[in-house]
Amino acid sequence: MSFRFARRALIHPLALCGLALLLVSGIGPAVMAAQAPAYESTPAGAKAARFVDALLGKMTLEEKLGQMSQIPLNQKEDVTPDERILKGQVGSFLFVTDAKEIDRLQHLAVERGPHHIPLIFGFDVIHGFRTIYPVPLALAASWDPAEAERVESMAAREASAVGVRWTFAPMVDIARDARWGRMMEGAGEDPYLGSRMAEAEVRGFQGAEIGSPNHILACVKHFAGYGAAEGGRDYDSVDLSDEQLWNVYLPPFEAAVDAGAGTVMSAYMDLNDVPATGNKFLLQDVLRDKWKFDGFVVSDWDSVLNLTTHGFAAGPEDAAVRAVNAGVDMEMTSHVMRDNLAEAVKQGLVKESTIDEAVRRILMMKYRLGLFEHPYADLSRVDAEEGSAAQHEAAKEAAERTAVLLRNEGGLLPLRGVKSIAVIGPLADSKPDTMGSWSLAGNVADTVTVLAGIRNRFGATATISSTEGVEIERGQPSIFDSQFPSPDPAPTTEAEREAEFRHAIDLVKQADVSVLVLGEAQNMSGERASRLSLTLPGKQEQLLEAAVATGKPVVLVLLNARPLNITWASTHVPAILDAWYPGTEGGNAIAALLAGDANPGGKLPVTWPRSVGQAPIYYAHNLTQIPHARDAMYWDGSSAPLYPFGYGLSYASFRLSNLRLSAVSVKAGGSLAVSVDVKNTGAVAGDEVMQIYTHQRSGSASRPVRELKGFRRVSFAPGEEKTVTLTLNTKELGFWSSATHRWSIEPGTFDLWVGTDSTATDHATFNVLP
Ligand code: BGC
Repeated sequence: MSFRFARRALIHPLALCGLALLLVSGIGPAVMAAQAPAYESTPAGAKAARFVDALLGKMTLEEKLGQMSQIPLNQKEDVTPDERILKGQVGSFLFVTDAKEIDRLQHLAVERGPHHIPLIFGFDVIHGFRTIYPVPLALAASWDPAEAERVESMAAREASAVGVRWTFAPMVDIARDARWGRMMEGAGEDPYLGSRMAEAEVRGFQGAEIGSPNHILACVKHFAGYGAAEGGRDYDSVDLSDEQLWNVYLPPFEAAVDAGAGTVMSAYMDLNDVPATGNKFLLQDVLRDKWKFDGFVVSDWDSVLNLTTHGFAAGPEDAAVRAVNAGVDMEMTSHVMRDNLAEAVKQGLVKESTIDEAVRRILMMKYRLGLFEHPYADLSRVDAEEGSAAQHEAAKEAAERTAVLLRNEGGLLPLRGVKSIAVIGPLADSKPDTMGSWSLAGNVADTVTVLAGIRNRFGATATISSTEGVEIERGQPSIFDSQFPSPDPAPTTEAEREAEFRHAIDLVKQADVSVLVLGEAQNMSGERASRLSLTLPGKQEQLLEAAVATGKPVVLVLLNARPLNITWASTHVPAILDAWYPGTEGGNAIAALLAGDANPGGKLPVTWPRSVGQAPIYYAHNLTQIPHARDAMYWDGSSAPLYPFGYGLSYASFRLSNLRLSAVSVKAGGSLAVSVDVKNTGAVAGDEVMQIYTHQRSGSASRPVRELKGFRRVSFAPGEEKTVTLTLNTKELGFWSSATHRWSIEPGTFDLWVGTDSTATDHATFNVLP
């Protein structure tokens, strides 16, 4: 337990306005008069406010600063965490996940701390707590917000049982560059899909309202623009135009705030030369003034202190002043606010009212969560919740619904009548690598690997053989290795490695079919896990090519959380199933998919490049010169993606026909019904995801060739035909124009396509009228 949270040894560092043309950004968003936050105008909110204001009136400045401090338990300081609690110098702990320890600390705070203020325990419950679900990128691949909501609500059950009442999720950063390792934590490249996933995850974590039983507080992160790090290098600077910010990077944050997210985390990096953690434009003008966010802002790990690293703050005191004045309410890990703000208030650098507002927001959230009334978790729930049958069932279903079938030549899948299966690859029997990064409290022992799943499903009727074939290693340590290591390959000689490779190929030759489980070890993606290349690490590609060269049928199962270079495989390996990091029940789910007990229905939430040189790549690009040669923009290779955004196959097949719109013209602010008849022409039940894309033909600024504006995942029985109707609300067509510096829905002609990926061909046009 303690090794797990010896974390990083502390080295780790719009609202659319319908018809009105609302002026936004700095640029002008601070146009709105301050209003009473909506929650406080409810009777419950008014009661909470009275309670909190009375409490605030009794607190000393030092005690207020204590509430603004969040520390990990293992932080090496002269004062112990217990003493900090007794002196009122801490408001929150992160990385405590032991139910008894949480309970002990909470008793200390509530019984003996000043004013009996409960602590709030935060942890990265990213895709599960003890039971691990598919990584967030995979959840987005379900194209089913209800699935994402279910998963996060199950995760909240387990976490809340031990007393963790706050997660640092969802991460809603748009990611268009697969070199960036944190692509795994978000919903991929698209602001519309990302927004739907963001709000679903907030609902999943928080339930119907903040304080719902068995739910936890969400924290939308990392505000904002983090996914656009230069060169895909984690933490590197971000330079985003207003156009990109408003149209691409901010919408998922706004959707999460609108869905009621209680907290927001400020990001590490510079946004246009101003560190996000000291960025008043983001934290005040956008978040509070424009979006009316009434929760609190926590910094990222050490990011307040690190305002000095950026060459932004003159020193720790200045960092504290700049962060709090910009809008940071709680400081994670570093404690320059706790240590310096009393003096800063004395000197008039920070108003005491600024501190009061920050503390008020924190206390309001603790109140809304119910911590003042019920500070202790009901520990009798722990055993019932952790790893329950319901958790395992939900985890298996999620892994089945998130897998994406990328190729299935000759109907190799589902496997039929096989008498022997070779399960090969360095990830085939690795539990941590089945769970994926950010599984820090996950129960490793419970995890079902692909090998174990295949044994469970096929073991009675087929002989199963297995070996790793090749080894993979990250080369340099990950910041998480001490807590959640990928197994190190046993040291071997070159001769032993060659023998192992040959052994693997022998097993392939002897089996009816081989399942090669390849990809990245879990520590190869996630935080500080950026890459220069997207190749299959180690000698996995050679193993794959040698397996295919035997002439025996090969299925490639990928475990990954970013697109990898599978360009060779895409034309030589008959079946490719992208299982992402599928979590605790991953092996059973993959076996069910291979067997055809479940049918893949996931779709890519990112455009899949052929080569790393294409990064960043995304489907919603603008069209400029040489539109006819879009795929030939490099002389040394294609510029077309390997697989388009929204792509994914099924064991069923679907025919779309009869696209129709409810009207050819619609007033800005109105909506259209888009209908299409969809028939399952296959012999098995399956899901298809109907996707609507639009394109504005002309306007004040160039617009992307296509933008996703609606989708729905629908299940079909074999042979079933139904009409699927989606609503296209014209408010989705609004955008921030860098020509007009306005957010507006511009009248004109729009193309519309409906289909099953972003290359959809069923086309119609409609007009938006002023
Ligand atoms: C990450 C955050 C995370 C925090 C606490 C930081 O390094 O950027 O996403 O929530 O650590 O673990």
